[in-house]
Amino acid sequence: DIPDAGGKHLRLLEFNGKLYPNFPAEVITNIKSLELREDDVIISAYPKSGTHWMFEICRMLLAGRTDLEVISKVDFMIELMEQDVLDQAKSPRVLNSHVAFSDLPTDLAVKKPKIIYIRRNPKDVAVSFYNHCYRISELYDYKGEYKDFLELFINGTVEYNCWYKQVLDWEKVIDNNTEYSILHLTYEDLKADPISEIRKISDFLQVNRNEELIQEICDLCSFSKMEKRKGHILADENGKSKIYRKGEVGDWKNWFTVAQSERFDRIYRERMAGSKLKFRYSL
Ligand code: A3P
Repeated sequence: DIPDAGGKHLRLLEFNGKLYPNFPAEVITNIKSLELREDDVIISAYPKSGTHWMFEICRMLLAGRTDLEVISKVDFMIELMEQDVLDQAKSPRVLNSHVAFSDLPTDLAVKKPKIIYIRRNPKDVAVSFYNHCYRISELYDYKGEYKDFLELFINGTVEYNCWYKQVLDWEKVIDNNTEYSILHLTYEDLKADPISEIRKISDFLQVNRNEELIQEICDLCSFSKMEKRKGHILADENGKSKIYRKGEVGDWKNWFTVAQSERFDRIYRERMAGSKLKFRYSL
């Protein structure tokens, strides 16, 4: 039941009643059975919540240096990796995924790798997600307008399904967690105070990096420097990155009308009733 989506939907893959990007079906159907390693670091996030950023920070922290090979986090997405590809990656691996916690490999409960969960305010996620789907038209075949996409987002008829549900599920996991090692961060805090957040990540990864390196990582992982170094990986014909778009908190104000924003707030209150999570919509 998708009200007024303008007849325009994303081209997605459906498996077990859930929506995924149009990735090879044999990979999506195998996610649960993938074998992990104890020293893996798993970044988990709903799409467009800062995964690329976190991937780069973690890689640098683990390596203890910043002059790393330019690689794409997309090549280390759990839901795009077959076991042999996963096995070829050297430890410690930084993996990432947008699937719900309960859809991650069952081996998670055995190997108990470190997990970093990052979340972002849903208005900025919706805007970023729209631009993502619109610009990566080869995958989504999507040409809708923002107002149409907003309905898909609210209804969860987008890849990785409903933002509200995924975020609420994660809140429960974190609140009840006794067995996993999880660090819970937000895009907005990372943006507002990257040094202290990167220090937190360093402590969590138990790599004990000095202030000089943390400062260097903060600088090299800033939006503009990352765009320069990595923007070409997925760029349009004019060389404009499809991933490194704006990297700001509050760009939603340029997209939402007042009425859309008020309705969105209302829906948020309904869907997130009972949640203790707080999101920052501006800095
Ligand atoms: P915008 O579309 O709002 O610019 P993900 O990595 O989970 O796909 O999220 C992508 C979003 O994170 C995009 O948001 C992108 O610009 C932003 N982003 C990527 N690298 C960033 C960085 N180094 N600093 C801040 N934001 C970054």
